[in-house]
Amino acid sequence: MTTERTFSIIKPDATRRNLTGAVTKMLEEAGLRVVASKRIHMTREQAEGFYGVHKERPFFADLVGFMISGPVVVQVLEGEDAVAANRKVMGATNPANAEPGTIRKELAESIEANSVHGSDSAENAAIEIAFFFQPEEIVG
Ligand code: TYD
Repeated sequence: MTTERTFSIIKPDATRRNLTGAVTKMLEEAGLRVVASKRIHMTREQAEGFYGVHKERPFFADLVGFMISGPVVVQVLEGEDAVAANRKVMGATNPANAEPGTIRKELAESIEANSVHGSDSAENAAIEIAFFFQPEEIVG
């Protein structure tokens, strides 16, 4: 077990339904600590850059449109095995396939409007954190 950091986004479907606190509570109950947080409205350029890995996928244009459809809350989470702990509490990409008790099962609307993003590896977490945060904005 190692303490590590991961990157999370509370997506526009969740901020629109005033679920920032509900999502954060589930993250905290999963053992994760919010060490940086800010509410932003992503530009198209930011969303396209952030999801650049998916740019050839059929859902890319819709995904970018959704991610800029309202405010999001970007967060850095810290905890034991934070990447895996966050992926576990998020649940499967498609909420229909997510386990009971996960954020996506309990709160998400659809495979696109699935309430949260979470880094899928420590390497990507470092890249994604640096995409949105300056080091001094993260207070452990
Ligand atoms: P992905 O990285 O596969 O999932 P996860 O968010 O669980 O790591 O996909 C990124 C986002 O793209 C996903 O959260 C929602 C969107 N998406 C769709 O809209 N349709 C799809 O068929 C897939 C696979 C993803």
